[in-house]
Amino acid sequence: MPYDIIVDTQLPAEMREMIGAECTVQLWPADAADPLFHAAVGLLTYGHPHVDGAMMDRMPNLKVISNFGVGVDHIDLAAARARGIPVGNTPHILDGATADMTFALLLTAARNIVIGERYARSADFTHYDPSILIGSEVHGATLGIVGMGNIGRQVARRARGFDMTVLYHNRTRNLPAEAELGATYATLPELLQRADYVTLNLPLTAETRGMIGRAQLQQMRPTAWLINVARGGVVDHAALVEALEGRWIAGAALDVTEPEPLPRDHPLLYMENAIIVPHLGSATRQTRSAMAQLTVDNLNAGLAGLPLPSRIA
Ligand code: DGY
Repeated sequence: MPYDIIVDTQLPAEMREMIGAECTVQLWPADAADPLFHAAVGLLTYGHPHVDGAMMDRMPNLKVISNFGVGVDHIDLAAARARGIPVGNTPHILDGATADMTFALLLTAARNIVIGERYARSADFTHYDPSILIGSEVHGATLGIVGMGNIGRQVARRARGFDMTVLYHNRTRNLPAEAELGATYATLPELLQRADYVTLNLPLTAETRGMIGRAQLQQMRPTAWLINVARGGVVDHAALVEALEGRWIAGAALDVTEPEPLPRDHPLLYMENAIIVPHLGSATRQTRSAMAQLTVDNLNAGLAGLPLPSRIA
């Protein structure tokens, strides 16, 4: 029997092929009353669409929600559980790529790569000048990892190669990470006060929303960088603008923002001490292919009424 599944945006050809011809793939209709919603048995979320209980109720035949990505803050998991709809996601396979991205942003921030790149292309670059764009050292510096889950651990592993002192903060202590990676647990204020680089590697939940606000940014060192590869909502953006304008911290390197993208007149887009990239954390060929495969495997299992290979709710 052919399945109707709904996707929120066009899928890459590779992924469309993985889904197979037995599924009719429909784009999320603009009209909430569209009969496609009623017919659909699967929902594949590719670009973080908001999926709440009301949306699920429009899809009474829905057997599975399969999310491309590990973060599921855009899906109401409690509503899915209440309706008995399994939700799949793609953990673990993106840990390495996301940790690499954390380090890419950290190094970019520390060594003025963005400003330097623009300057090297400009007419202003007329001669080598050893006095300009002096960055800060990464090796030997103190890294504060907020969120010692799978990605945080991979960040800590990379930090060892840079001879960094690694502090971490997590809801619960991660003793294996302490033993294996030499990371030291710190309260959030301690970590913020001591770290030269603070990386956010945690999911967005009701508890973590706005976790880095005015008070936390004021606790950071004036020379420290904030690196966010988690979700924009973890950081209070109004407070961040204030912190960057007031030079409470050296800068912020953001892979994620809220909203995403930021409105084109948002002050963060015009600040020299902010680096912003368009949510590239897991964007490598290998990782995105693995994510596509797991998303399709979760989808197919749900459509067949089988346990999902990776189920979050
Ligand atoms: C993730 O996996 O959560 C990435 O941010 C892409 O959604």
